Amino acid sequence: MSILLIAGSPSQPSRSTALLQATALRLQLQGLSTAPVLSLSRLDAAALLAAQAHEAGVADAVARVERAQAVVVATPIYKAAYSGLLKVFLDLLPQSALKGKAVLPLATGGSPHHMLALDYALRPVLQSLGARHILPGIYATDHQVRLLPEGGYEVAPDISARIDEAVQLIVADAAHQPQAAAAPSDAVAFADVRCSV
Ligand SMILES: Cc1cc2nc3c(=O)[nH]c(=O)nc-3n(C[C@H](O)[C@H](O)[C@H](O)COP(=O)(O)O)c2cc1C
Repeated sequence: MSILLIAGSPSQPSRSTALLQATALRLQLQGLSTAPVLSLSRLDAAALLAAQAHEAGVADAVARVERAQAVVVATPIYKAAYSGLLKVFLDLLPQSALKGKAVLPLATGGSPHHMLALDYALRPVLQSLGARHILPGIYATDHQVRLLPEGGYEVAPDISARIDEAVQLIVADAAHQPQAAAAPSDAVAFADVRCSV
């Protein structure tokens, strides 16, 4: 099973990306292959903002989403929702880009007050893109992803335990899925993206 990890933070270093990397490590320990992280902040910002789905880097990123059989997506919480960077990328995806895929959403926020943002903001978008199974999201506050003096982040034990549980769900899901990757479809012009309802 090919699992794509998407980092939706514009920041470097990034707590939400640290959650993503902790998840990647556990997936690898379970024998699941993860491609290198798709870091949305490395894509051409002008192409993203102008919805240029045919720009080489953007088109490659979209194709990676389509080829993946499962997706882990991480975002910081900005203004009680997911990041604008993630939004402009999701807006470029074909309507069925997540069809048949399991998706695990991850987020970090400065406070616990917006822990439902994954459910009220991101989940409907993932659903509209055809995700087959959206796993319970994992939300960590900044205190639970602690910046270490020597660099890097330490994830709190309760969050690590939740990541372990989510990875087990992905492993179980993978056991029931065919191995063939989805065939990538042609990039869709932004004007041609249809409504999901
Ligand atoms: C522009 C901006 C808006 C933010 N808005 C929120 C918010 O509404 N709720 C919250 O809990 N944290 C908010 N934060 C804090 C970040 O979500 C938090 O620090 C997060 O861990 C950053 O993740 P990152 O390091 O992956 O970018 C905001 C941070 C920034 C820079």
